[in-house]
Amino acid sequence: MRFLVVNGPNLNLLGTREPDVYGSTTLEQLEAMCVDWGRQVDTDIECFQSNHEGAIIDRIQAATGLDGLIINAAAYSHTSYAIADAIQAVRLPTVEVHISNVMERETFRRHLVLDGIALRTIYGRGIEGYRWAINHLAHRLGFPFTTLRYGHDDDRVGELRVPGGTGPHPVAVLLHGGFWRRHWTRELMDPIAVDLAKRGYAVWNIEYRRVGEGGGFPETLFDVGAAIDHLANLAPQYHLDLDDITVMGHSAGGHLALWAASRGRLASGEPGADPLITPTKVIGLAPVTDLDAAHREELGDGAVAAFMGGAAGEAWRVASPIELLPIGTPSILVHGTADDAVPIEQSERYVAAAANGALAQLVVFDGDHFDPIDPSSAAWAEVVQRL
Ligand code: DQA
Repeated sequence: MRFLVVNGPNLNLLGTREPDVYGSTTLEQLEAMCVDWGRQVDTDIECFQSNHEGAIIDRIQAATGLDGLIINAAAYSHTSYAIADAIQAVRLPTVEVHISNVMERETFRRHLVLDGIALRTIYGRGIEGYRWAINHLAHRLGFPFTTLRYGHDDDRVGELRVPGGTGPHPVAVLLHGGFWRRHWTRELMDPIAVDLAKRGYAVWNIEYRRVGEGGGFPETLFDVGAAIDHLANLAPQYHLDLDDITVMGHSAGGHLALWAASRGRLASGEPGADPLITPTKVIGLAPVTDLDAAHREELGDGAVAAFMGGAAGEAWRVASPIELLPIGTPSILVHGTADDAVPIEQSERYVAAAANGALAQLVVFDGDHFDPIDPSSAAWAEVVQRL
């Protein structure tokens, strides 16, 4: 595949321009990184930067032979209907990127003209955002999915990838991490979603409302429960095997996965109680298991307090997987010794508290927080072996 990476005005100054906002990587370095990130997903990358709206439009118009476009139109992102028109005219699958967290800066930066035209908008992840964008487009074009709503909100959707064959297909439900925050979204799970679909799983990669846009306790939990229960509606059409459902989550998504497998422990009336669907197996990839400890240890820079949003008392019990033990669903927790985002003690304590070796297993690997969602890692090989 061939993608074009376009950078707009003032991004030629990367490296020296407001380094506290945009980092210290220069445009030249960024472009070299994009070429390298492309190579990792068998994609050739061409790069273009201009400070001029017309030049950007000319370059987009000339890109018709390519497979995709990654664009950071910089300040034009907020104003240029001409660039938006050009993208629509050439019909290139497009992912929009912003280095900074445009949703938490000046109000004018929240208005994005490509909203509804770009397939995805990735922001607030520094220059790594370009890597996620290239990755997302390559995985999306390589193994397409259907986006399906499970509720009335743009974030209450899931992406379903269905393998070949007549089924019934075993199901893998994926829950991404990012400390429940708005700027982390479901494409984090793309690489393992494609890997699992190629292994014959129907993969249901769930989005959920996150902190900053209607999520947090209890809405996020309602969403996760509803998205999993929605499998009952999808099963007939997509030939899903509801007796073989593995729920898998990474980091804060690991918290959501373990919580989802514990819903049977909730009393009627508590958020997420009375599940329609019970997972057959749950896998926590570097998961947060204990909200109280994660809060005390300030994981994710105050992420737990933001997620709980001032809820007190009982809320912490019904939201925290370790408090909901024991559960009947077999659980496998996979955690790296070098994880500095979610320390391995989160998994160790959960498995110790489960106190039932047959049902809760800890798999330790030599690696970091992101290894378990990288299909080329030893950690992922461990996960696959246990499927
Ligand atoms: C930017 C955000 C824009 O608001 C700004 O005008 C830029 C860069 C970003 O990458 O964060 O120039 O697109």
